[in-house]
Amino acid sequence: MIWYPYAQMKTMDEPIHITKAQGIYLYSHKNKYIDTTSSWWSVIHGYNNQEINQVIKEQVDEFSHVMLGGLTHKPALDLSHKLKSFLPGSLNHCFYSDSGSVGVEVALKMAIQYHFNQGKCKKKEIIALTHAYHGDTFKTMAVGDDPDYHLAFPDKEGVHHINPNVEELKMILEKHHETIACLIVEPLLQGAGGMRMYGVDFLESARALCDQYNILLIFDEVATGFGRTGHRFVSDLVCPDIVVLGKALTAGYIGHAVTLANDKVFDGFYSDKAEHAFMHGPTFMGNPLACRAALKSIEIFEREDYISKIKHIEKLLKDAFKDFNHDAIKEIRILGAYLCIEVYNKENLKGFKKYALDRGVHSRPFIDYMYAMFPYIIKDRELHLVIDVYKSWFKEVE
Ligand SMILES: Cc1ncc(COP(=O)(O)O)c(C=O)c1O
Repeated sequence: MIWYPYAQMKTMDEPIHITKAQGIYLYSHKNKYIDTTSSWWSVIHGYNNQEINQVIKEQVDEFSHVMLGGLTHKPALDLSHKLKSFLPGSLNHCFYSDSGSVGVEVALKMAIQYHFNQGKCKKKEIIALTHAYHGDTFKTMAVGDDPDYHLAFPDKEGVHHINPNVEELKMILEKHHETIACLIVEPLLQGAGGMRMYGVDFLESARALCDQYNILLIFDEVATGFGRTGHRFVSDLVCPDIVVLGKALTAGYIGHAVTLANDKVFDGFYSDKAEHAFMHGPTFMGNPLACRAALKSIEIFEREDYISKIKHIEKLLKDAFKDFNHDAIKEIRILGAYLCIEVYNKENLKGFKKYALDRGVHSRPFIDYMYAMFPYIIKDRELHLVIDVYKSWFKEVE
């Protein structure tokens, strides 16, 4: 039997059995639902995109996988070439892996070894943000800060957590900069750790402080990348030394991630010494099917001017919720194609999932948040339908 994620198997609701997925819709045996989750932020073009299907089929007929250990291939070369021009600054060096969590592990290892290669072996601690979520592997749990997820794994050795506040960052850097390797953040929008937002001014100051103290700045854009915040990447606003992309990278087709390092980081490994090499190599890194899906996804993203679509979704959401309030609601947050309604009491969301399903909307509230990360192809009338369901729920709360 399947052991489902993030669920108490004894009490979890019966999962919805999906038989077909098309565009923004999920189909069960009997019903059809608008999907507001984009399958954990990944399915940005909707399900069953014919263009992406086609390139994957073509690639299957050529070859589905060869390792990057000692071999290379056109899909990985093409994607690396594309990402080099698609990403800002000198984020030119692509290290592939099979999931966002591993992509973040790779980024942290790169940062620590970058200093190690320069003889700065003490620089191996990490600064991360309170309420951060970076994945479920051991080091990503350590840089994360959310007991709702990782209660049984409280080990935070070598990690300092701060709020996204410049004074806090300054204080910790003044005191500890000699032992700190990097600062890692989910830029602008913290997802799974509470759907929180903060301003770009913190990132700008963080960039300057990291330069001042020889600390690498890592953006985990696994969730925010590819337009989610209304920017192609937050890295377009403030350029990090290392950025991690995942989820929407392959449009929800195949699990894959890429950790892009800038020239400075890459040069820290490029030497005559074998021991300066980066020792990591996931079996499925640069999988050709994933690379073809990513290339086609980026082509569609650019061709269809998704940034304008996302700005339109943002405006529609902001207009729709401008005058909306309810005693149960703590805050409504909207950024790009992303909506979060935080309530004071999680009891106020009990029953919402079923309520939404009964009205043709698949939503996945968690703790005291109801949220939506819309596929970018959603139409206005479909957005209004979802908004009406979310709003009308609060009449039930009364
Ligand atoms: C910001 C962020 N980083 C990393 C991850 C982990 O990605 P994956 O689930 O592909 O391992 C997630 C997943 O939600 C995420 O939101």
